Amino acid sequence: MSRLLYILNGPNLNLLGKRQPHIYGHETLADIEANCRRVATAHAFDVRFHQSNREYELIDWIHEARETAAGMVINPAAFTHTSVAILDALSMCEFPIMEVHISNIHKREAFRHHSYVSAVASGVIAGCGGQGYELAIERLATLLAEAQK
Ligand code: DQA
Repeated sequence: MSRLLYILNGPNLNLLGKRQPHIYGHETLADIEANCRRVATAHAFDVRFHQSNREYELIDWIHEARETAAGMVINPAAFTHTSVAILDALSMCEFPIMEVHISNIHKREAFRHHSYVSAVASGVIAGCGGQGYELAIERLATLLAEAQK
């Protein structure tokens, strides 16, 4: 079985650390990537970690993952609330998908309460800051181990 995880990040997450720290904290995306790699390595996973401000690029990575990955962590950022195209791409993936939001989207504006992606996610983590990514990887490790039994 593949031990490859795709960790995808949507628009504006490249500015983490500078972007509204009262909402998103002080961690940069590079900090989050380093923590993801540490947790993934502990579970013998390889990681492809990407961020894009462009919807099509995220979709291309989902298509790529479809062929090779064992699981995915995705924070689609604002595309969470708008993108049927990302939902459609994720719908073609057979591996478990963990949706992550750094902030608690349910505590924020009403337009953030709906997620297109949740319809195909195995689980959703919101409001746990950058640690949410680590929790999502732990969950994927559990789901993939259970699937092998
Ligand atoms: C986000 C929440 C989204 O509503 C927002 O558009 C983002 C980041 C989060 O991680 O909390 O860009 O996905």
